[in-house]
Amino acid sequence: MNQSDKKNLEFIQNAGVSYFLQDSPRNWFENAKNNSKKENFNENDQKLKSINEVIIDIQKHQTPLKNSANKLVMYDGNIDAKVMFVGEAPGREEDEIGVPFVGRAGKLLNKMLAAIKLRRDEVYITNVVNWRPPNNRTPTDEEILEFLPYLQRQIDIVEPDYIFLLGGVAAKAILSTPVGLGKLRGQWHEYKSMYLNKIIYTIASYHPAFLLRSPQYKKASWEDLQMLQKKLNDEK
Ligand code: URA
Repeated sequence: MNQSDKKNLEFIQNAGVSYFLQDSPRNWFENAKNNSKKENFNENDQKLKSINEVIIDIQKHQTPLKNSANKLVMYDGNIDAKVMFVGEAPGREEDEIGVPFVGRAGKLLNKMLAAIKLRRDEVYITNVVNWRPPNNRTPTDEEILEFLPYLQRQIDIVEPDYIFLLGGVAAKAILSTPVGLGKLRGQWHEYKSMYLNKIIYTIASYHPAFLLRSPQYKKASWEDLQMLQKKLNDEK
């Protein structure tokens, strides 16, 4: 194949025209069920690759937060999840082991998930900021904006149907508003990405760490969780 044929082929493949370009003949009688499994496997493979690329980009990104933190904290759970949970930033325990929501707030999050019949490995859990801020301080607006593209890329890769925002920082980042949770919670918002051909229904509610300090807000949090559960049940 000469160079210009190769370029042409690459151009056609990049344009998505791969139907007539397979290396081997298509087996039209292959079991359809197997086929969809295989496609799913390939899709997840691709998602994993793309998430790993985001991780590499965050590692390369220069920020003072990186100098004071130990481990990059990216995600836990399922890259093919219907529901994505977004927190604020890693705390001490998360920073030590590199997994989000493993400390006290994480234990409460696990209980919140269980209350609506979800397991951690069924959802995708991440944070707005991926390095622990010194002394667990709240990320600044500049830091939120600095890390937002990485969060947006994760949403584009995972393509969840629903996003559950845990706390004011996640709400500010994703809903682009400083409006408080008291006003934002209890209703569905729409998140749109220019790379996804769908609306992602998004709800903002209280952060588990806040609920540990202020248990009187657990009732409102439970109502928000039930709104999510209802959406998931209605799909069945
Ligand atoms: N709080 C967060 O917002 N994220 C974590 O991962 C842990 C605690």
